[in-house]
Amino acid sequence: MDAIVRPATEADVPAILEIYNEAILHSTATFDIEPQTLDERLRWFSETKPPHCVIVAEDGGEMVGWGCLRGFRPKVAYRFTAENSVYVHKDQRGRGVGALLLAELIERAKEGGFHSLMAGVTEGNPVSEALHKRFGFVEAGRDREVGYKFERWLDVVWMQLMLPPGE
Ligand SMILES: CC(C)(COP(=O)(O)OP(=O)(O)OC[C@H]1O[C@@H](n2cnc3c(N)ncnc32)[C@H](O)[C@@H]1OP(=O)(O)O)[C@@H](O)C(=O)NCCC(=O)NCCS
Repeated sequence: MDAIVRPATEADVPAILEIYNEAILHSTATFDIEPQTLDERLRWFSETKPPHCVIVAEDGGEMVGWGCLRGFRPKVAYRFTAENSVYVHKDQRGRGVGALLLAELIERAKEGGFHSLMAGVTEGNPVSEALHKRFGFVEAGRDREVGYKFERWLDVVWMQLMLPPGE
């Protein structure tokens, strides 16, 4: 696998949107239900400022996945906690792209001075659970039936990685 990971630019947003909208329509990984517009995704991109970030994985000139660090909660005392997301193009999964993106997000979270990373994994997503566990995330809690999508209630399993200072 020869994919590289780099910071996203505005020009990546249409491809990011395509991957995200596929996940909105066909999975419970995100609790959005309606596909987003390009304007909405551009706003999301412009609002993601350091120490938060959006990164992409590119393979042979094709964008094959993206990831981001965003604020966990808006209130100020949450500022040292970031929430990470990773989305890989449906035809590119299982090749190590998700691992590449998550490894980079962890590095950026350390550089950004975050104390921990949180990933909200919807129940029934063993691939995402395994991916996060592989990088040392542990289950930190479960919000029961907080989502309702595709005619069923969904739990969110919070997986957390503590980031010791200086590492
Ligand atoms: C979850 C997702 C990001 C993983 O990315 P990926 O590129 O498919 O994953 P990778 O190939 O890097 O695999 C990483 C680890 O995940 C696990 N994994 C991958 N495919 C798996 C499968 N089919 N079954 C079980 N575990 C699997 C393995 O532990 C693997 O580590 P290993 O290679 O050491 O065995 C990707 O499947 C995806 O975009 N899914 C839809 C959106 C989503 O669920 N995002 C996460 C929201 S929390």
